Amino acid sequence: MSKIVILTGAGISAESGLGTFRDENGLWAQHRIEDVATPEGFARNPDLVHSFYNARRHQSSAAQPNAAHMALAQLQAQHPGEVVIVTQNVDGLHEKGGASNVWHMHGILDGALCAACSHRWHAAEDMHRGTLCPSCQMPAARPDIVWFGEMPYDMEQIYAQLAGADLFASIGTSSQVYPAAAFVHEAQAAGAHTVELNLEPSSMVSSFAETRFGPATVIVPRWVNEVIGQP
Ligand code: OAD
Repeated sequence: MSKIVILTGAGISAESGLGTFRDENGLWAQHRIEDVATPEGFARNPDLVHSFYNARRHQSSAAQPNAAHMALAQLQAQHPGEVVIVTQNVDGLHEKGGASNVWHMHGILDGALCAACSHRWHAAEDMHRGTLCPSCQMPAARPDIVWFGEMPYDMEQIYAQLAGADLFASIGTSSQVYPAAAFVHEAQAAGAHTVELNLEPSSMVSSFAETRFGPATVIVPRWVNEVIGQP
């Protein structure tokens, strides 16, 4: 029973109406990373950062999973071996599409993190400067998003999954952000077959044994059908 590890990025949610980061008119063309995606930016202007993530939380909770999210859930249901999804996405669209066993290495929009005591809790509503941590009662709530300069979540467990992979697929990511961009090398070292599925070649394209280009809603269901052996 082969083990499949899948890395996803913003491209898989693009056709659900959620903007990517680095495409034309992407989030990083509209906002400065230093302002909204660093601990220093939050310290400088927490109101701006909260309003950025509050807006993204609203947008993401209104979004629906697309055929690519659902195909991965189907793969999990029908593949006889383990199928692990590691996502850089902070939306909850994999789970909404029926997936389980999802590792959110960059955090989640529905999460809050206490900047004072590191307590994490579910926060589906708007957050504001002064929102209290339910554990230490400090007014130090921040979005539970991994910002630039911070360590992604669950790296030890994710590397352990990659070390046991027989098949590694990278879907909808530009492969410009590490450590995720280098997962293909970990999987390769473990002897896995590697495949990139993306709209266009990513920065790491030459590292993959196989590549498929096109919109995720087209190429991911097609690939899943091949993996589970359906015509
Ligand atoms: P990017 O915006 O860097 O890359 C999105 C990729 O998706 C690009 O390679 C696009 O070509 C591709 N793409 C766009 N539309 C697509 C579609 N319909 N089907 C398939 N592919 C499509 O997003 P990420 O690689 O996810 O981190 O970015 C990685 C990290 O950088 C994010 O998690 C975020 C960001 O800064 C944090 O916020 C910590």
